[in-house]
Amino acid sequence: MDQTSQPGAAAAHQALEDLKADIEGAVLDTADAIDAYRIRYLSRKQGQITALMKRIPEVAPEDRKAFGQAINAAKQTVEERLEAATAALAGSAATSAAPADLTLPGRLQPEGSLHPITQAQRLITRVFENYGFDVAEGPEIEDDWHNFSALNFPPDHPARDMQDTFFIEDAEQDHGGILLRTHTSPVQIRVMEEVMKDGEPPIRVIVPGRVYRNEAISYKSYCLFHQVEGLYVDEGVTMADLKQILHAFARTLFGEDVRMRFRPSFFPFTEPSAEVDIWWKDENLPGGGRWMEILGCGMVDPNVLEGVGIDSEKYTGYAFGMGIERIAMLRFGIDDIRILYENDVRFLEQFS
Ligand code: DAH
Repeated sequence: MDQTSQPGAAAAHQALEDLKADIEGAVLDTADAIDAYRIRYLSRKQGQITALMKRIPEVAPEDRKAFGQAINAAKQTVEERLEAATAALAGSAATSAAPADLTLPGRLQPEGSLHPITQAQRLITRVFENYGFDVAEGPEIEDDWHNFSALNFPPDHPARDMQDTFFIEDAEQDHGGILLRTHTSPVQIRVMEEVMKDGEPPIRVIVPGRVYRNEAISYKSYCLFHQVEGLYVDEGVTMADLKQILHAFARTLFGEDVRMRFRPSFFPFTEPSAEVDIWWKDENLPGGGRWMEILGCGMVDPNVLEGVGIDSEKYTGYAFGMGIERIAMLRFGIDDIRILYENDVRFLEQFS
């Protein structure tokens, strides 16, 4: 091959051989060496790879293709060596660093915490789990039957207006609507239906969950909140059992000397029904405190039991339901429910 017809051809070939040798030979044991290597070969403007590409025209036309391919191979070697050297350096930094000084104070990592509602919910469920209750859950999108009718709310009865409902499908016919559940009580029905498929009471469940109401938002009410429902059905369950367990619950949450009272009330699904208040001590109030309502409860109405096929002559039951936010606010001294839903880290940090 007559390379003299291309005056620079021999020099270009030599430059390629030199480049390959340099690329193979360079020692890449420090971050600086790696950086310099990258710039020397790969820099778009001053890199030696680019420089050599520009010399392709000096090579005999029939050799140009092979010459270009050789440059590309060299470039690939550079990239592979860079990658290997970077990885090796990272690995050795991890393993061969100076021995750790064990006397140094630890570095504090910011630590998340459970939301106060979650904390209150777990606390409440744990108390009842200790008394042998199982935890159950149900859907937040509910049908009219479970949320109202099966709980003895007659169609068009004003008791339905006790709870302003978000309807998803507001069916005209009875039992037809789909809605966001307004309380956790429908899960009572679902649990009893499930048990009655192939069993009998006793039934003892605690049901935490989220509920929704179409209410004006204020410091004390929000369009969504959380409840815990309790249900106990067995032979010979009485109001005395209900009072006893709620009293034990209040003592665990609010202290041994907690004062509580039962006030007669009305719920369609219990008869008799009551609301429970606890005495909230507050020096700033005249009288040194005030009664705060914490839950609703009662003996499960025989209509509700019969509706799910439980013999109300043989079995009786009690039920109760409480708002978790209310309990969390009392326990943690929070005076505006909305702050629980703002997710302001400065607020949440206080509960770790
Ligand atoms: N579901 C009622 C509400 O949201 C609370 C309630 C009252 C639940 C009495 C019960 C009960 O299980 O027995 O207002």
